[in-house]
Amino acid sequence: MIKKIKKILNKKNRAKIVCLTAYSKNVAEEIDKHVDIVLVGDSLGSVLYNYKTTRSVSLTEMINHSKSVRLGVQKSLMVVDMPYKTYDTSVSALKNSKKIMKETKCDAVKLEGGKKIIKQIRALTKNNIPVMGHLGLLPQSAKGKFKSKGKTTKEINQLINDALLLQKNGVFAIVLECIKTPIAKQITKSLKIPTIGIGSSVYCDGQVLVTDDLIGLNQTNIKFVKKFLNVKKYINSGLRKFAYEVRTSKYPTKKHSY
Ligand code: KIV
Repeated sequence: MIKKIKKILNKKNRAKIVCLTAYSKNVAEEIDKHVDIVLVGDSLGSVLYNYKTTRSVSLTEMINHSKSVRLGVQKSLMVVDMPYKTYDTSVSALKNSKKIMKETKCDAVKLEGGKKIIKQIRALTKNNIPVMGHLGLLPQSAKGKFKSKGKTTKEINQLINDALLLQKNGVFAIVLECIKTPIAKQITKSLKIPTIGIGSSVYCDGQVLVTDDLIGLNQTNIKFVKKFLNVKKYINSGLRKFAYEVRTSKYPTKKHSY
């Protein structure tokens, strides 16, 4: 097992795990200073490309963005989302995860789902490909409006069974997305591996957010997003100054000219 994954596992019941998304080198470089896990999420489909769902994200897009992120990540564990339709069977999951690992030099991949994709997960973990799971709201298979999970007995049992099944089949952590607080708490307590929450309460072992959401670069009104910064304000201030100085011939000066 790679050292960075051991470090994540050791945090269970000791310290919270911090995870953020990155889609490019310069942002990844800053994120890497503050987090334990950098995730190249397929959320890049909606955040960067305005795709209606993450289903439109291609393997090539994920690999290209991940190659850029790799250049900025030094200390954190780097995880890459496997896009929709790239892990329909054990054979395709293994082939595509190997391609992602080889071309991006990431540390692990993330797949959405439980029992339905357990054969694919097993194929990867048996071949020493570290896997992060993802349960609850699954953007790749969600139909219509995004809703929280863990409301009915059937849903609760399925979530708990899926979490245990993923653990049994070797995943090193599980993202819990939009799962009702008591269920996320129960799942976290019943697992030896860490849970990383997003909209699933403070009782998870760690938290993940889309960076563009928390810094206010992406406009969203999702319940679980807290805006920690209004980065657009700073960008606009710099850009306004640049435009003004160009228009008034204050820039470039002699200092900036050859
Ligand atoms: O695609 C993504 O960014 C994700 C996280 C939000 C968990 O899967």
